[in-house]
Amino acid sequence: MADEFVIDKSQPDQKLYLELTSIIRNVLNKNDNLITNLSNFTAVLKQTFDKISWVGFYLFDNEKLYLGPFQGKVACTQIELGKGVCGTSALKKKTIIVNDVNEFPGHIVCDSDSKSEIVIPLLKNNKLLGVLDIDSPFLSAFDETDKQNLEYICNFLTEEIF
Ligand code: SME
Repeated sequence: MADEFVIDKSQPDQKLYLELTSIIRNVLNKNDNLITNLSNFTAVLKQTFDKISWVGFYLFDNEKLYLGPFQGKVACTQIELGKGVCGTSALKKKTIIVNDVNEFPGHIVCDSDSKSEIVIPLLKNNKLLGVLDIDSPFLSAFDETDKQNLEYICNFLTEEIF
C-alpha cells in the first residue's frame, strides 16, 4: 500500500514546494513504470495546493501532444504544437503563465472553471518530451515562485523519472 502523506497547506507556497519536492522524491520510484510515476505525481501536486483544479501531462509523440496522467475533469485528448497554452509552451520550449485564460488568444477551453494556468515544458537535452499543465479556478494563481519550483521539479522528472 502506498504511504499517505500529510502536508500543512496553510504554509506559504515556497515552503509547500520544499515539502512537495521531498515527498515526490519518496513517492516516485525510478524502477516503476513512467505512467505510474506521472499519475502519482499529479495526485501529490493536486493534494498539496488548493489553488489547483486540474493538473496533468500532455506527452509529445514527435507529432502532437496527447493527454497523459492527470487529476481533474475530463480534458481534450490531443493538442497540436503551437495551439493553446500547452502547444505554445511546447513549441517555444518556455514556461508560460497565463493570469487570465480569456486573454490568451487560442486558449483551449477544457474546463470552464479554469481562470488561470501555468504550463511548463518537459525537456531533456533540449528535446521536447511533453508539458505539465496546471489550471486554477482563481485569476492570477501562479507566479515566479511557481515557475521556478515547477521548472526545478520538471527537471527532476526528466532527468530521474522519464
Ligand atoms: N489549457 C490548455 C488546454 C488543456 S486543458 O486546460 C486541460 C491550453 O489552452 O493549452
